[in-house]
Amino acid sequence: MEIVRTIAAARAAVARARGGGARIGFVPTMGYLHEGHLSLVDRARERTGYVVVSIYVNPLQFGPQEDFAAYPRDLERDAELARGRGADLIFAPSDAEMYPRREPATQVVPTRLADRLCGAFRPGHFQGVLTVVTKLCHIVQPDMAVFGQKDYQQATLIRRMVADLDWPLEIVVAPIVREPDGLAMSSRNAYLSPEQRRRATALSCGLGRAEAAFAAGERDAARLCALVLDTLAAEPDVRVQYVELVHPDELEPVAVARRGDVLALAAFVGQTRLIDNAILGA
Ligand code: PAJ
Repeated sequence: MEIVRTIAAARAAVARARGGGARIGFVPTMGYLHEGHLSLVDRARERTGYVVVSIYVNPLQFGPQEDFAAYPRDLERDAELARGRGADLIFAPSDAEMYPRREPATQVVPTRLADRLCGAFRPGHFQGVLTVVTKLCHIVQPDMAVFGQKDYQQATLIRRMVADLDWPLEIVVAPIVREPDGLAMSSRNAYLSPEQRRRATALSCGLGRAEAAFAAGERDAARLCALVLDTLAAEPDVRVQYVELVHPDELEPVAVARRGDVLALAAFVGQTRLIDNAILGA
């Protein structure tokens, strides 16, 4: 496995692999890798002959009050974990390499799908995500890129961008990897105190209750959301940002639940913002 810091070196490594006949798989990340990220590497590994993992904490997708500076970083550990799962190339650029002119004058601006769910509370976030994913894909030129269902809105926006703009790129979305107690794995879980970590299980627990109710025949969206809200409300240090049942592609709220609809939530546990979701009937 090779680790490169520059765009030129990444392009050269990928060109060599492609010259050897390999299909290129790509897993973009912000690092501090966990089993969720590594499951994406496994997916890419299964489907392609050369797997690139990018590790870059993208300043463009963080709001001014958000955790860009505090975001956990450990390239050495990440490289070991990625190597262990068969990654071929780590691309870990600096900010100067990615944004030599600071904030780029050209960005990818999503339209209506970005105003909902997380987008309503994080203005500019998905513009930052789509811009960096576009840049990274132009550098790596993968045949296939893997994203996690954990960030459902992000994966949906990326899928839509690729379709809308006719990119010759296959997008694969992999299921959420969870801790044994149900908490969705996230680099941000590292911020939680032991007490908060225990309370954070309310997120997946609430979703689990709603999924069980759906399986038992409940179709009223308000009642399904109320099951999640009640579970979260029972934890003192948990503050809900949103709980919504939405259409899987349009992300619009639905009143009557159907199989495949997505129950999505964001909540603060202490100062830490966590997200989770469940695809009903999946
Ligand atoms: P990051 O939060 O590091 O996540 C990288 C990828 O791992 C995303 O596709 C995310 O959905 C996936 N992922 C995170 N936790 C997961 C889990 N528990 N199970 C399965 N997959 C999981 O998402 C980003 O970085 C950035 O926005 C990025 C796309 C890299 C652009 O900067």
